[in-house]
Amino acid sequence: MASKKAIPEALQITSEIHQKTYLVNGELREWKGENSQVISTISSTDEYAHTILGSIPDMGEKEAIEALDAALGAYNQGQGIWPTMKVKDRIECMETFVKKMEEKREEVVKLLMWEIGKSMPDSYKEFDRTVEYIYDTIEDYKQLDRNSAKFSKHDGVYAHIRRGPLGVVLCLGPYNYPLNETFALLIPAIIMGNTTIFKPAKHGVLLITPLLEAFQSSFPKGVVNILFGRGRAVAAPIMKTGKVDVLALIGNSKSANALQDQHPKSNRLRLVLGLEAKNPAIILPDADLDLTINECIAGTLSFNGQRCTALKVVYVHEDVKDQFLKRFSEKVDALKFGNPWDEGAKLTPLPEPGKPDYIQELLDDAKAKGAKVKNKKGGKRSDNYIWPAVLYPVTKDMRVYEEEQFGPIIPVVSFMDIEEPLNDMAESNYGQQVSLFGKDVYTLSPLIDTLANLVCRVNLNSSCQRGPDVYPFTGRKDSAQSTLSVHDALRSFSVRTFVAFKDNELNNETIEQLLEAKVSNFLSTDYIL
Ligand code: G3H
Repeated sequence: MASKKAIPEALQITSEIHQKTYLVNGELREWKGENSQVISTISSTDEYAHTILGSIPDMGEKEAIEALDAALGAYNQGQGIWPTMKVKDRIECMETFVKKMEEKREEVVKLLMWEIGKSMPDSYKEFDRTVEYIYDTIEDYKQLDRNSAKFSKHDGVYAHIRRGPLGVVLCLGPYNYPLNETFALLIPAIIMGNTTIFKPAKHGVLLITPLLEAFQSSFPKGVVNILFGRGRAVAAPIMKTGKVDVLALIGNSKSANALQDQHPKSNRLRLVLGLEAKNPAIILPDADLDLTINECIAGTLSFNGQRCTALKVVYVHEDVKDQFLKRFSEKVDALKFGNPWDEGAKLTPLPEPGKPDYIQELLDDAKAKGAKVKNKKGGKRSDNYIWPAVLYPVTKDMRVYEEEQFGPIIPVVSFMDIEEPLNDMAESNYGQQVSLFGKDVYTLSPLIDTLANLVCRVNLNSSCQRGPDVYPFTGRKDSAQSTLSVHDALRSFSVRTFVAFKDNELNNETIEQLLEAKVSNFLSTDYIL
């Protein structure tokens, strides 16, 4: 239980934040309607009670359509200031934004800790990683532009090929990375010349509010529009109009499918989706167990397992099963639970008030079907937590095998024949990543060859993760659509578009004049420094 004394002074909640404005068409409009309370499951008092952090507007269809109209207006069928602006000028706007964002580091990090219970080091990391992502995106876009600042010629036809925006992008991010993952969608969408509507995740909402002014003052009106409220109330009406060109969502496939279904012309809708996963660890008999156990702790329990890339099922070979279970269970119980700012806290309060009950359901179901809890503290409840249970043996009829737990519970399955985990992966609905632990190259090689076709990242003797953000982040089956990374996201949010002309005197002269006059923002051979 948290004691108020243990909360560092600078991190205490001394006043609530009641967000009364939202950003539409370059204006911070005042909200006069209903609000929803924002609470933290972290207690500020010795006697446990959730902490009230403030409130956010509970918006509906009217404001959603206002935001859509603003985004459509700023895009203006491709004629808007933003989509036709010189790349160099768009980059300048983004540089202005990121500098203003950096000034809000402490405010945003404090809210990250309170709203989603992320540990202090991980909260700072989320902020800094996002800032770095923006700078890397700027650099990559400059390079993309430099590579396009030329003409090709084939079969007597010249071409000046660039990447152009797609239109209006609706961006929805997840609560586990409310800043980083949302911005990993929003930033490339904006910089490529699209106009956007963005609704923060269900938790981790207030932390966006210190950035509203930075968005407002860095970009032309209507380029970034920020709404608050439930997805059903604001995102669905926007999709129904059929005027959204890209749905960019990191979350679960149920929401993605429901929103996609609202769009009357699915062929016109581009999808950039990062969805759920059930990444397995496969531990071979010759695995280095010290390293494997450390990687499996990080993989299963970083941020309490609330990561799409978390290891959500552990396959261990029968020969090393007993040793692994014993040592892994001891390590799980030795982890420190505490509030995000507590020194060394690896396990922290769960931000969803109902999550401990859900994890309990998975645990009870598995126990009723024959699984045992292998660690002493497994399943122990406290006010805002349930201790991670190491469950073995887990079988396919258990809910914890099938469902993406997205929380602290670790199903372990043993195998004799490597075909068993491989078949399970092939049958699974998911295909994001795998962690493979072992040493013998003759065993590893064919496995790597197969696994690379079942998922999109094979982590060798390493836990699964998204980063570094320059690497491709994607998945197969129900796990993703499109690829994100600093480099790939710029492509996901744009389309190749070009000017072509036959090689003749008239055209060559016209193009020469066009380049000399420097009047086209698209047709240009300028090199951005
Ligand atoms: O929730 C899924 C995130 O993309 C995971 O990112 O692997 O860097 O924690 P991460």
